[in-house]
Amino acid sequence: MAFRVGMDVPIVFCTILTLLVKGFVADRELEIINKKCDIPKCNQTHDGQPNLVHIKGTGENDTIHYLWSSIGAPAVILARTTLGANLTVNWKDLLDGTKTGSLSFQPPESVLYSSALMFTKLIEYNDTSDDGTIQSKDARMMTELESLTWQKGTINSTDCSAVLLGKLGDNGTISMKLTGFGKGGRLTTLPHLQYTENSTQLDVTMQNVMNMIYTNYTNARFALEMVVVGRDNKSGTVNIKEDTSIDDQYTPGTFSTLNVRLPDSPLGSYVQWKPVSYVKKGRTMENARHVYEYKLETTRENIDMPQTSIVRAFFSPKEIEQIGALNVSFGITKDGFYKKTNYVSWSIAIGYGDPPEEYISLTVYIVISVGLGIPLLIVVFGGTGVCISKHKEKKRKSLQSN
Ligand SMILES: *[C@@H]1O[C@H](CO)[C@@H](O)[C@H](O)[C@H]1NC(C)=O
Ligand SMILES: *[C@@H]1O[C@H](CO)[C@@H](O)[C@H](O)[C@H]1NC(C)=O
Ligand SMILES: *[C@@H]1O[C@H](CO)[C@@H](O)[C@H](O)[C@H]1NC(C)=O
Ligand SMILES: *[C@@H]1O[C@H](CO)[C@@H](O)[C@H](O)[C@H]1NC(C)=O
Ligand SMILES: *[C@@H]1O[C@H](CO)[C@@H](O)[C@H](O)[C@H]1NC(C)=O
Ligand SMILES: *[C@@H]1O[C@H](CO)[C@@H](O)[C@H](O)[C@H]1NC(C)=O
Ligand SMILES: *[C@@H]1O[C@H](CO)[C@@H](O)[C@H](O)[C@H]1NC(C)=O
Ligand SMILES: *[C@@H]1O[C@H](CO)[C@@H](O)[C@H](O)[C@H]1NC(C)=O
Ligand SMILES: *[C@@H]1O[C@H](CO)[C@@H](O)[C@H](O)[C@H]1NC(C)=O
Ligand SMILES: *[C@@H]1O[C@H](CO)[C@@H](O)[C@H](O)[C@H]1NC(C)=O
Repeated sequence: MAFRVGMDVPIVFCTILTLLVKGFVADRELEIINKKCDIPKCNQTHDGQPNLVHIKGTGENDTIHYLWSSIGAPAVILARTTLGANLTVNWKDLLDGTKTGSLSFQPPESVLYSSALMFTKLIEYNDTSDDGTIQSKDARMMTELESLTWQKGTINSTDCSAVLLGKLGDNGTISMKLTGFGKGGRLTTLPHLQYTENSTQLDVTMQNVMNMIYTNYTNARFALEMVVVGRDNKSGTVNIKEDTSIDDQYTPGTFSTLNVRLPDSPLGSYVQWKPVSYVKKGRTMENARHVYEYKLETTRENIDMPQTSIVRAFFSPKEIEQIGALNVSFGITKDGFYKKTNYVSWSIAIGYGDPPEEYISLTVYIVISVGLGIPLLIVVFGGTGVCISKHKEKKRKSLQSN
């Protein structure tokens, strides 16, 4: 691990782990920086350091940046820039209601692509019919995530990750961990999402967030609302697609992958997940529960944008041409509701480019071929045998009749 302290900004290179694991040089050199706030107003926030984490992946010809923050609604901005681009923060304007322009790259023309994902609402609902989904008859209570008290973030330079922790009620926490990658691969923990040199993983964990005092929901479950935005809609609007595969070797029991795409030319960006969450810290198949997704809303008028977020600081309202909002809920019929473990954890990938696809591995092909092949052989040979004997019989019969 190489620490470099320059311009009072501690810069940490996160490539060591990649090097150890992969044994060769990463496609992008990763750095993680907690952008230093240098104005007096910062003292009003926890420890004088608002959460604005900058993960930077420097490649041969361009840089991918992830800005990760809980100033307002928790959000990640993905930007691809030319190599020389510098992130500029006007802290006064950023902390003063996340004014547009307070977060930018200089020079402005260095930005080649940008999009963002925000988490806007936590929805607690009483699943009256115990089917896992939110229905119009279900009582619900919404919490704007921008209104939570967010603790000082923690950076782990070994795996290039940053955790933002929001407090809810007495003991409740929403933890959001963003991990950057400098090279393609697949995580060792479930659901074994794929990552690329252009993507990050976001793990959302909701612990003890049930609010019985206010809601009295005996059948409480949770849902999250997410909003994605992009600059340009010339290549199309935000869309969602479910890809199914016959192969569940990486995520046992889960045969599909959901992709929310923000198309752009030459490449857009995506949010990808598997419809599975985990109700205990140890992620196992037994602790896996379904994640339902709801209708993707793409009509701007129907989407509530948070009052404050780094997205507002980075994009002017008229720049946002692509927009999509989506709810996802956690849990499945007869699982004992959220209260059974008071815990749910879910992972998604956010990346530049096309979402990685699940390929069927050679092993699975062999298994399928053998599995289908033997009965097929029996049918073919058996069938042929039957045909031959029938034919012979026919011949015999026709000979007899002649
Ligand atoms: C901010 O906090 C630091 C350390 O806690 C302190 O030294 C400094 O005087 C404070 N500045 C203001 C403007 O409150
Ligand atoms: C960078 O650009 C050069 C010249 O266009 C190209 O040969 C090379 O493949 C590019 N590198 C990457 C990682 O895309
Ligand atoms: C970016 O910052 C570096 C180091 O502070 C500086 O040398 C460079 O000129 C800056 N580039 C731009 C485009 O402002
Ligand atoms: C929640 O749902 C259960 C089961 O249908 C019902 O008995 C209970 O009254 C509901 N509670 C509220 C607050 O709606
Ligand atoms: C940082 O990440 C590494 C690798 O995942 C892990 O082994 C280590 O315990 C983490 N450190 C902290 C302080 O969480
Ligand atoms: C919060 O946690 C403490 C200690 O674990 C427990 O005694 C208390 O009942 C919890 N409060 C709520 C509202 O769950
Ligand atoms: C919750 O239930 C308790 C006992 O049934 C009742 O006294 C209380 O008023 C209820 N609270 C709300 C917010 O409905
Ligand atoms: C793209 O966005 C503009 C401005 O929001 C809108 O007028 C236009 O209809 C959109 N185009 C498509 C194809 O959705
Ligand atoms: C998410 O669910 C809440 C509560 O049912 C609803 O108010 C909101 O409009 C939904 N968001 C989207 C994008 O459908
Ligand atoms: C990553 O981004 C670069 C552009 O910088 C692109 O050429 C490459 O295909 C992308 N990789 C993946 C896996 O999408």
